[in-house]
Amino acid sequence: MSDKTTIIAVSGKGGVGKTSLSAAFVRLLTEEKPDAKILAIDADPAIGLSTALGVEVTQTLDDIRKSIVTSVEDGRPKEAIEMLSEARFRIIDSLIEEKAFSFLAIGRPEGAGCYCKVNAYLKEVISLLAGDFDYVVIDGEAGIEQINRRVMEKVTHLILVTDPSRKGTQVAETIKRVADEMVMYEKCGVIINRVGDPDVLPYVHVEGVPLLAAIPDDKAHAGNDIRGLSVFELPGDAPVMQGARQALEKLEIL
Ligand SMILES: Nc1ncnc2c1ncn2[C@@H]1O[C@H](COP(=O)(O)OP(=O)(O)O)[C@@H](O)[C@H]1O
Ligand SMILES: [Mg+2]
Repeated sequence: MSDKTTIIAVSGKGGVGKTSLSAAFVRLLTEEKPDAKILAIDADPAIGLSTALGVEVTQTLDDIRKSIVTSVEDGRPKEAIEMLSEARFRIIDSLIEEKAFSFLAIGRPEGAGCYCKVNAYLKEVISLLAGDFDYVVIDGEAGIEQINRRVMEKVTHLILVTDPSRKGTQVAETIKRVADEMVMYEKCGVIINRVGDPDVLPYVHVEGVPLLAAIPDDKAHAGNDIRGLSVFELPGDAPVMQGARQALEKLEIL
């Protein structure tokens, strides 16, 4: 149990490297903070953080939500607080702890309209579980939805990821604007990932957000990804690992 949990949310456009960097952050925290309790949350229904971290997911948050809703419908309606404490119990029980971190996936709810339910649930779960961990890393869904719905309300560090494209930086700027109203973050910064040509860097910026790192194309990482290998199998000096380290150092997390 920690007094103050560091909650890192990773956000940005689709395909810019959010999952890769979230996984790299988790690896760095396990290496640099061996005694800390670390929770990795895959909050993207598109799923990917489990592969990036090399963990197998048996039960998602959506599975837990469904089974609790079913058991409540079967018996006497439980008080909300009782239901949440049961959820916490089941989640802690289902966490994968054989690695140096725990892992929770939000899952992929079937059918239209289900997703906001699990998002509302995720918000509760973040505040419920945060106190049990020293570090929480949240690999967010692409875009602003989870920021706008205050799912990320309690994060301490908001890390925006973009590629050098104008579209990517615009999405990051929108997220920042919405987060300024909806999120109580302490620090925010941007990582520019997949920089093929360093000459473009002077033209790439996200208004009002300090640059944490610029990461070039990383062949080792791309090769790992294609072979389905986890971030733990990357050389420690791979550009993605170096960029992730630089970002956490700038934020004074490492
Ligand atoms: N610096 C990099 N160099 C090369 N490939 C990268 C780099 N960062 C990410 N990738 C690749 O880009 C793709 C998208 O990355 P991913 O982390 O899944 O993005 P997101 O989670 O934002 O959708 C993946 O195939 C990943 O391996
Ligand atoms: Mg992803």
